[in-house]
Amino acid sequence: MDSIVVKGGRPLSGQIHIAGAKNAALALMPATLLSEEPLTLTNAPRLSDIKTMTELLRSLGSEITSMQDGKVQTMSTHGTINTTADYDIVRKMRASNLVLGPLLAREGYAVVSLPGGCAIGARPMDIHTDGLAKMGASIELKDGYLHAKAAGGKLKGAVIDFPFASVGATENIMMAATLAKGTTVINNAAREPEIVDLATCLRRMGAQIDGDGTSTITIQGVDRLGGATHPVVTDRIELGTYMLAPVIAGGEVECIGGRMDLVAAFAEKLDAAGVSVTETELGLKVARKNGRPSAVNVTTEPFPGFPTDLQAQMMAMLCVAEGTSVLEEKIFENRFMHAPELVRMGANIEVHGGTATVTGVKRMKGAPVMATDLRASVSLILAGLAAEGETQVNRVYHLDRGYEHVEEKLSAVGADIKRVPGS
Ligand code: UD1
Repeated sequence: MDSIVVKGGRPLSGQIHIAGAKNAALALMPATLLSEEPLTLTNAPRLSDIKTMTELLRSLGSEITSMQDGKVQTMSTHGTINTTADYDIVRKMRASNLVLGPLLAREGYAVVSLPGGCAIGARPMDIHTDGLAKMGASIELKDGYLHAKAAGGKLKGAVIDFPFASVGATENIMMAATLAKGTTVINNAAREPEIVDLATCLRRMGAQIDGDGTSTITIQGVDRLGGATHPVVTDRIELGTYMLAPVIAGGEVECIGGRMDLVAAFAEKLDAAGVSVTETELGLKVARKNGRPSAVNVTTEPFPGFPTDLQAQMMAMLCVAEGTSVLEEKIFENRFMHAPELVRMGANIEVHGGTATVTGVKRMKGAPVMATDLRASVSLILAGLAAEGETQVNRVYHLDRGYEHVEEKLSAVGADIKRVPGS
């Protein structure tokens, strides 16, 4: 298995191009199941998670062609399709569950494997299934598969109150409701930019959706959706990750394609930590204002709050900040697995339940470390940028799920980083 080797201590300077959002693309791709006509995504990220979704959609009968080295994906799903999403593919990636709503809307029937446990927490699917049940689906769990059937072969509109603003459940219900009979209202919907991106694409396909980006989304079902071409929104998590690179390593980096509205809560914390973030014509430019960044407390929340997907990277920064910070993880119950690895690099972190207390040290020390999940792996790379000596991050397949060409992007701004192919 490949590893990434970073030699710390080089300040960064230059530009990094931010890709299209993984989490947006993973919700946009299943939208092909809602139409007989082609859906083309531009600005798609080149990631292994996208390949997994491609594999899943192909197994259901979609035709997918990829152009411009994967940046443009055209999907077409016509005629009769397979309605079973197999465990062998679904288990690789939780976002596979996003085919449930579209399949049910199209065919009135779907069998989708439960994604199973995930390293960062239990992540059940009750919010998705309760919502679909309200729309008239009967859902049964048999042999690890959800068997879902719409009464009378067609979902019907409903008022659905989410107990928690789940991103995936909002996407699944929103897609299912586009072809349902009547009006669906989702209360306490997730407000993430990826939801707005999906709604925008669905509208391009002919869907009638209002209120995306707020807590109440209203979808008026239509008889059919057409094709569309849609550019994937900028990846705010990749953006936030690279914004932290010059804060940790020193120097100045301009993130091309970056937008303040995508990372407002995160940028506010950077400001409090003594970091300058300025909007430029092309994106966002980031540099420390003075020497070391200062400690700052962070609590993860659904959008527009501080994203859980930037918590591990923020922790890497706080490990070298001046003072003591408290990080509270409110979205997932087991998302501090990077902490013991950062401690191996000389960080001072204490974890109690969902709270981590980080006391900054002047300099961390390179060490061999293990990536435990996607965001954890990139936090170890960020930490390595400022550590003394060499950091070897092993098990980087997690990284390739969500970051394209990380070593190329960071070495282009002056980092000493390389990929070492595994055996
Ligand atoms: C999405 C993102 C992921 C991000 C997360 C939270 C994608 C592909 N993934 O994941 O990167 O970390 O949002 O911002 O977009 N929950 C339930 N029951 C459910 C659904 C969720 O209890 O039916 C709980 C989960 O266990 C978790 C919390 O709700 O504790 C958040 O989950 P959710 O917002 O659904 O995240 P995902 O859509 O899985």
